[in-house]
Amino acid sequence: LEQIPEIFRLSAPQALSLSQEFGTPLYVMDQLSVIHRCRAYKAAAKQYFPEFELSYASKANSACGLLTLVHSEGFHIDCASEGEIRAALRSGVRAEHCRFHGNGKSRLDLEFALKQGIGQIIVDSLDELALLRELRESIGETRIVLRLAPGIEPGTHAHISTGQQDTKFGFGIEPGFAIEATRIALENKLPLIGFHFHMGSQLMSSSITAQAASVMAEFAVEAKNKLGFCAELLNFGGGLGARYTDSDTVTSIFEHCRLLSASALPILRSGGLKPRIALEPGRSLVAEAGVTLYRVMAVKTIAIGTGTKRYVTVDGGMSDNVRPALYGAKYTVKNLTRGGHEHTVTVCGRHCETDELFPNVELPSETAVGDILEVLTTGAYGASMASNYNRFLRPAMVAISGSGDHTLWQRRESWEELFSREVAP
Ligand SMILES: Cc1ncc(COP(=O)(O)O)c(C=O)c1O
Repeated sequence: LEQIPEIFRLSAPQALSLSQEFGTPLYVMDQLSVIHRCRAYKAAAKQYFPEFELSYASKANSACGLLTLVHSEGFHIDCASEGEIRAALRSGVRAEHCRFHGNGKSRLDLEFALKQGIGQIIVDSLDELALLRELRESIGETRIVLRLAPGIEPGTHAHISTGQQDTKFGFGIEPGFAIEATRIALENKLPLIGFHFHMGSQLMSSSITAQAASVMAEFAVEAKNKLGFCAELLNFGGGLGARYTDSDTVTSIFEHCRLLSASALPILRSGGLKPRIALEPGRSLVAEAGVTLYRVMAVKTIAIGTGTKRYVTVDGGMSDNVRPALYGAKYTVKNLTRGGHEHTVTVCGRHCETDELFPNVELPSETAVGDILEVLTTGAYGASMASNYNRFLRPAMVAISGSGDHTLWQRRESWEELFSREVAP
């Protein structure tokens, strides 16, 4: 469990047979890869934190089969909307095991979550605290955690940076917003149990998260000294990265936990605090456990100046994987139908934008219409961000079990579903 596991790949015969049975594009998730990473988190947390709690950030991939699997491995479910709470409940997760995030929760969202008996609400603003004060009668066993902004640049893509000073998320520790929010929560007798931060996503090193953990530990000691509040929970968020291409290297889950523990626990101990440490990984549990299969629809060579460029069009695009368009994300692509001498091509989607899904990847020069391409590391933020742009149907998702059997987790969307919201004739 201490080793960094392999990135999941299908065998060519299995991929070809799945693509025939379920069509393409097709998301495929490997359950053993997910289980391995869940167990690595549990073992590492057990080794480095006296007490801990683990949640899966379901925004990464909220297929109900996956939520059930991750929960059966002892993870709580982190939800960022009523929809994600409903997905967790549908997957057999009790509300007390769900954590509710978001910087814009409405009164209706909070009423829904409290009515279900949600375990924790991670509060993001004074307005949310005021709403919770009004809803105090329905709080029951729900516990409140304040999201803090440690004010450190996470050094990842701007769209997935969240813990820096200029952020819409949480209460800034500087210049005193966080301590003020703590005081308000305590004065209003809200059931505050601790603090949370999430620095950002796809962090290839854990040093920033570790630095933020020490800032939060110092803040927790400050809250004890100034307000007499002893935090019983500190949540260091998610953010550990995944390997998309050969040039990506990632910190192991064990090293991640070791670094967080080494930077926060001494400060907490000397401040007389012994909080439970919470982590809420998304991508690092599921990204490398998933692949997407596409079928080649067209191969075109164009002239550029004195040279040429080859485009390989596949039967999907930004509607099933928006990350390249959103973040310039890079991927590894394999041709499962044929091998041979490789050539640099651009794999593009079939949407109306210049939908360069996977620019400059190496594929056999004989790549032709009908070939099946496998894209690695698509288990996170692929299906969960999928859309119906250009009225494409969202792909199916199949799960492979330890014995190699497969189960359908999500079937392909149907034409009836695509038009189910239309009210005009
Ligand atoms: C509050 C919170 N926690 C956890 C995560 C999971 O992050 P990751 O998938 O990078 O582990 C996110 C992702 O955006 C988040 O916003």
